[in-house]
Amino acid sequence: MDRDDAITLLADRLGRSARLTVVTGAGVSAASGIPTFRGPGGLWREFRPEELATPEAFARDPKLVWQWYAWRRELVAKASPNRAHDVLAAWSRRFPVFRLVTQNVDGLHERAGTENVVRFHGSLWEVSCWERCPESPPRWREDGVFPELPPRCPHCGGLLRPGVVWFGEPIDPGVLAAAESALDCDVCLAVGTSALVYPAAGLVTGAGALGAFTAEINPEATPASGSLDLAVSGRAEEVLDEVERRLAPV
Ligand code: OAD
Repeated sequence: MDRDDAITLLADRLGRSARLTVVTGAGVSAASGIPTFRGPGGLWREFRPEELATPEAFARDPKLVWQWYAWRRELVAKASPNRAHDVLAAWSRRFPVFRLVTQNVDGLHERAGTENVVRFHGSLWEVSCWERCPESPPRWREDGVFPELPPRCPHCGGLLRPGVVWFGEPIDPGVLAAAESALDCDVCLAVGTSALVYPAAGLVTGAGALGAFTAEINPEATPASGSLDLAVSGRAEEVLDEVERRLAPV
């Protein structure tokens, strides 16, 4: 099926659906100038994300890990939501039941005004106490520039860590439950994710197993492409814009 037919099919499905769940990944923020984790531009200095986003890497060199997060916070602070974020924000009000599960920690879906966002991997703008001191809450928002890296816990003086999920760490049970309940939907759409990192990568196929129509928007094929009902080849900001134009006005 060519891209135009795929877009028509997706728009038709969406036009007949009330319950939409979208699962997003780094590709949604690519047009905002935020590099994806994998693929061209995915490296920071000579490090791969898998070498930095782990508790072991943090324990070994907290300053290095914080420098990476501080660089990403700076990039995101200067960035703005793109057309993909804006269309999804509009859909969060258009569909009677809309849930968006994002692996992104940049907060751009929220800045675009999207309702019902489940932050599967946490937030770049939150921190927690690495020592888990009893005085500090599990996580809190800290969106300023840190005068010194690594930043320190205001309660115990120990290290602060980014409020994100690292490789080898479990997803917060409440977040996992919210994401799993979002799988009960009419259409489940994966946008801009390489479908390599679990458990997030299993969400869309999980929705398919429950009866949802499943689709993916990505310029590249992913390991999930073959098992979904529809794979639309293209960039999120272009394909979502085209689908939005084909939906009947509300
Ligand atoms: P990846 O960097 O693994 O994949 C990005 C995907 O976006 C690729 O499949 C690209 O083909 C696609 N892509 C690139 N530009 C695009 C565009 N303009 N429109 C649509 N798609 C585009 O990012 P994720 O799948 O999000 O984990 O990675 C999953 C997790 O791995 C991340 O949440 C992060 C990372 O390590 C944690 O932080 C725990």
